[in-house]
Amino acid sequence: MIISIVSRIPLVALAALILMGTGQLSAQQLISPHDVVGREDCSQCHVQEQKAWEQSSHNKNAWNNLDHPKAGEFAKAIGVTDVKGESACTQCHGTQQKIEDKFQVLQGNTCESCHGGAGGDNGWLEKHYRFSEGQDAATKDMPALLELRKAETADHRKARDQACSSSGMNRSGDVLSIAKNCLSCHLVANEKLLEAGHPISSKFELAEWSAGEVRHNFLLDSKTNAAAPSNWLGKTRNVTGRTVDGRKRLLMLAGKLADLEISLTIRGAVTSTKRGSLGDEVNDRILDIKDDLEDDWELPGLEPVMEAIKDLSKKSLKDVTEDDGQTYAGVAKAVAAASKEFFQEYPDGTNLPDSVKIRSKVKGEPYQPK
Ligand code: HEC
Ligand code: HEC
Ligand code: HEC
Ligand code: HEC
Repeated sequence: MIISIVSRIPLVALAALILMGTGQLSAQQLISPHDVVGREDCSQCHVQEQKAWEQSSHNKNAWNNLDHPKAGEFAKAIGVTDVKGESACTQCHGTQQKIEDKFQVLQGNTCESCHGGAGGDNGWLEKHYRFSEGQDAATKDMPALLELRKAETADHRKARDQACSSSGMNRSGDVLSIAKNCLSCHLVANEKLLEAGHPISSKFELAEWSAGEVRHNFLLDSKTNAAAPSNWLGKTRNVTGRTVDGRKRLLMLAGKLADLEISLTIRGAVTSTKRGSLGDEVNDRILDIKDDLEDDWELPGLEPVMEAIKDLSKKSLKDVTEDDGQTYAGVAKAVAAASKEFFQEYPDGTNLPDSVKIRSKVKGEPYQPK
């Protein structure tokens, strides 16, 4: 049985669901099909973002993978009969949408696959460009909206950001949510898929993988794909001191801490840690991140994370026991709580030390408008 998770649930709940004693890890779905409006509802305002997305693998390859010669074998391994229908495959290679009872799959991983479903009962779509209570809902063109934004009060902006985040929008400021969301697809949490030869993104690193072909930072200047989200950088939000390097450090740490939490959750549910298995993969990830934490970063504020993982070793991770489910879920929960607190302390990335090394490599070519 594939468990599909049909509402925006915090990852703590996900940790429990993933372990529901089915013997098979589930593909984790963080976006409810009921909330998906589709990318045409984004591109009318976000023109360059759409163009950048068009040239990305999320558009060009993710869906086509389902026509790959091996797709049939992968499907068989997890009992999927309708690869392009309401299946585990389309949770990660497409965007599932359900309006009333009509189900369809949008091809590829679209805007909402990463930023969260924008519609539904309490959707964030209209909230995210409403800059005052009295704003005319008919105003829907970008220059006019950006003009209206200039008059937004600081209190309104704060309330708007919070309302969008709690409606499930993964905003640039919510680095941990963004990271967890990427990894919900890229850390392919299914032992049987991996056994059948389905790949897992072993080299996934958030700062690197979001700065190349995925990059689309056009909000304040549609002619330049900025190295950090232009809105997050602060001019319109009255924040000072934010920098591109600070952003990269923030993404790197968010990627690692999200990875640690999800890898621990997966570790609690695997049935094997033999070479090449999912258990082996997540063990390597956990140990690598532990090394970074202990040896390189020396970050004040991360002590509770280190405390939570201090007893994990190559040997303890290797042995699969009956108690693993509970043990690792507990550690993952502690890591999640400590990470959340950490990012509340370092929202800007400005006071992160140089020990958090920035890599210059990026994954793929960033799109630049001609
Ligand atoms: C009617 C125009 C309009 C539509 C439609 C629209 N947006 Fe936006 N979007 C804006 C404006 C204006 C801003 C700037 C808001 C701000 O300053 O916080 C924005 C900002 C954003 C941001 C940046 C938020 C941040 O944290 O800085 C994201 C992400 C985003 N939109 C995604 C989307 C997605 C995904 C869709 C489709 C589901 C969409 N938008 C549809 C106008 C629109
Ligand atoms: C949990 C998310 C997830 C699920 C479920 C999933 N995939 Fe994938 N799939 C991915 C990701 C991520 C990649 C790219 C991995 C990489 O190379 O970095 C991928 C890659 C692939 C590839 C490329 C293989 C290659 O050798 O280049 C094929 C084919 C594929 N998936 C088919 C399927 C089919 C068929 C299903 C359903 C039976 C499925 N996937 C289920 C996330 C998923
Ligand atoms: C809904 C699932 C899903 C989500 C969420 C997702 N991806 Fe992907 N991603 C895929 C799949 C599937 C592929 C494989 C396409 C292919 O074969 O190139 C892929 C490919 C990529 C590639 C190209 C990889 C390569 O080998 O060249 C990059 C880079 C990437 N993703 C980065 C990200 C980042 C960064 C995030 C989060 C901000 C993210 N992805 C979120 C499913 C997802
Ligand atoms: C693979 C995941 C992914 C997809 C797909 C995606 N985004 Fe994003 N988006 C991100 C990430 C990550 C950031 C923050 C980038 C950074 O830190 O450099 C971002 C930032 C943004 C911003 C803020 C840019 C700024 O200059 O402030 C907007 C607006 C946006 N996205 C809109 C969209 C729209 C519209 C689409 C669809 C056409 C889309 N995104 C598709 C992951 C994604």
